[in-house]
Amino acid sequence: MIHIRTEREAIALFNENNNINKPQLILGSGSNILFTDNFKGTILYPDLRGIKIEENDYDDESVIVSAGAGVIWDDLVEWTVARGFGGLENLSLIPGRVGATPVQNIGAYGVEVRESIIKVKALSTDDGSIRIFNNSECEFGYRDSIFKRKNKNRFLVTRVYYRLSTRPSLNLNYDSLKHEVNLLGKETLRNVRHAVINIRQNKLPDPELIGNAGSFFKNSVVTCAVAEKLKIEYPEMPVFEEREGYKKLASGWLIDQCGWKGKRKGDAGVHEKQALVLINYGKATGKEIYDLSEEIRKSVNEKFGVDLVREVEVIGVI
Ligand code: EPU
Repeated sequence: MIHIRTEREAIALFNENNNINKPQLILGSGSNILFTDNFKGTILYPDLRGIKIEENDYDDESVIVSAGAGVIWDDLVEWTVARGFGGLENLSLIPGRVGATPVQNIGAYGVEVRESIIKVKALSTDDGSIRIFNNSECEFGYRDSIFKRKNKNRFLVTRVYYRLSTRPSLNLNYDSLKHEVNLLGKETLRNVRHAVINIRQNKLPDPELIGNAGSFFKNSVVTCAVAEKLKIEYPEMPVFEEREGYKKLASGWLIDQCGWKGKRKGDAGVHEKQALVLINYGKATGKEIYDLSEEIRKSVNEKFGVDLVREVEVIGVI
């Protein structure tokens, strides 16, 4: 495992003479990774720090803030909210580090980080050359980007640049968020952050206390025809808009309907408040968590004909 603390260190590491053993795995906090085995190769651990305002890019309504890949994501969110910069507040308390945010296009409560990212600085793991990806070059999708597909492990993100608003307009489209903010008082950036924290703490298990990787599966993107057919049979099924021709189904609801919520097999289980989250109650192996996820996929497929796609990256032989 190679601990990378500065960009210079990373460039030197990846330069043309690089003899790092392959395969390589870039690992942040590991918040979205399930190990079923030891990784037989080199783990690259980017730990570049520092949050700064990029002075040159000030304009009347926005500011560009950049952060090193190793900055704890929620520290960055707190830093921006404390300065009255809007854009990241709905993404409060998501575990992990800054470097993973463009890779995964993290999202919650009606906001995705792609809305704020203007560019990503990355180093080629082949030769250490620096490459800037602007927003469109990141090819963002739902929990997806170029860094998960053709550039997987080929580029190490070192710094991410966010355009934030100095006159924030809040996104309270998610009903329970608006409700929670109103309970706290005024509709302010600080209250949105507090409300998101309250909702997450109430609904999602804290990975510091009990093993979990947040949503284990993505919500399910299906054609409009499939969604309409299911909606006739299950009128209460939540359906969300997606790109043209497609709808998004709440995978948590599908899993819940199959009776999995709160179920436990040994130390591997399904969270009692959110069926999309798998839990390690203590000593479950990665394989046992994986096997549970496969059982869940099978039953959702049998009942609804929908193929659940994992959000979590599985490492190791299964
Ligand atoms: N639902 C159920 N039963 C469940 C879970 C959900 O019926 O056990 C229903 C809810 O009642 C609601 C719908 O499914 O009608 C959607 O549920 P929720 O609003 O809780 O959000 P989600 O779609 O399950 C997504 C993200 C979360 C994010 C929340 C809030 C994905 C894969 N997950 O979950 O992200 O926090 O929305 O925006 O998109 C993560 O990615 O790790 C994560 C936690």
